[in-house]
Amino acid sequence: MFPHPVDAQTTLRILLPRHAGELFAAVEANRAHLREWLPWLDGTREERDSALFIDEQLRKFAKTGAFVCGIWHRRVFVGVIGYNSVDWPKRSAVIGYWLVRNAQGRGIMTACCRAFVGHAFTEYEMERVVITVATGNPRSQAIPDRLGFRREGILREAEVLYDRKVDHTLNVLWREEWRGWNW
Ligand SMILES: CC(C)(COP(=O)(O)OP(=O)(O)OC[C@H]1O[C@@H](n2cnc3c(N)ncnc32)[C@H](O)[C@@H]1OP(=O)(O)O)[C@@H](O)C(=O)NCCC(=O)NCCS
Repeated sequence: MFPHPVDAQTTLRILLPRHAGELFAAVEANRAHLREWLPWLDGTREERDSALFIDEQLRKFAKTGAFVCGIWHRRVFVGVIGYNSVDWPKRSAVIGYWLVRNAQGRGIMTACCRAFVGHAFTEYEMERVVITVATGNPRSQAIPDRLGFRREGILREAEVLYDRKVDHTLNVLWREEWRGWNW
């Protein structure tokens, strides 16, 4: 249930229209940092774009169950984690995430990701959780590695990042290999 305490200092909340200001401020202050690995920065120019994103995600949640959370650390908005997709027939969920630059290096995203994986296996009864990471993004790759995901292969030219195409590593955690931590 929400808000969801990940630990004493970190809370997840489903992104709602009232969070658009905080979301946009975080994006605006971290544009160069986020643009290195995320494709949507040039399409987020004003608070209204963040509000539209939240609106789209809420519609997607209603239709598919895939929801997106803001992350607050010591009451400050520091990033986003969410289901990119939930495939119910295949029982497979894909997770994506980002943090503002100055919140990195404290284990915040690993803890949030652990909570999401717990949610996927317990509440949503998924059989596998997938995180795809651009090859060459070691900070992001370290998160599924820490949580025991297996690297199952390379998705060639999986994403266009502005002027370049990047390959992704396919990281998968199967229910049998999940260490049983909870949501
Ligand atoms: C990917 C991203 C979320 C990783 O952030 P991060 O801070 O490295 O990840 P975490 O919050 O899990 O923190 C891990 C770091 O905290 C340290 N740490 C401290 N306490 C920790 C704990 N209890 N548990 C785990 N790590 C801990 C780890 O050693 C690691 O630091 P290191 O890289 O210096 O070894 C961030 O770099 C980012 O948003 N980048 C831009 C967008 C992006 O790439 N998104 C992903 C697209 S696939």
